[in-house]
Amino acid sequence: MEKTLSIIKPEAVSRGLSGKIIAAIEQDGLKIVAQKMLRLSHEEAARFYAVHQNKAFFDELIENITAGPVIIQVLAGENAIEKYRRLMGNTNPAAAEDGTLRRSYGVSIEKNAVHGSDCEESAEREIAFFFNHLEILE
Ligand code: RTP
Ligand code: MG
Repeated sequence: MEKTLSIIKPEAVSRGLSGKIIAAIEQDGLKIVAQKMLRLSHEEAARFYAVHQNKAFFDELIENITAGPVIIQVLAGENAIEKYRRLMGNTNPAAAEDGTLRRSYGVSIEKNAVHGSDCEESAEREIAFFFNHLEILE
């Protein structure tokens, strides 16, 4: 059983798409083992996305992720990291396959509806960033 971190981003929450996204996650066989809703501060967002601090899109990334409340979940299942990356689709919604979350609900590469951890090491770091062990169901 592998775990991954999912964020339903502000542009998806504010457009009332979180229910549809969560339904797709459950339908895909991923199990929600932790969940919370919060709004990130600029400082928290910059810490979460520290790996991207030198990228040209960093300021816009921080702007977008702090624009409103997000829904943060830990998803568990066999190959959960890769499985969720596949469900999300390409970073750019225009390049994502039909049926993926980003194709269905993303509006642009900057506002692509969801985040998912990209490897085991990131998943561990990202899960620990938001949840303590008492908040994650086994
Ligand atoms: P994520 O981390 O959100 O799951 O997405 P990802 O791995 O597919 O993409 P990554 O390269 O890690 O980028 C993180 C987020 O930054 C925004 N982005 N903007 N304007 C651009 O060229 C650009 N490239 C990336 C996206 O919102 C992406 O999800
Ligand atoms: Mg990434």
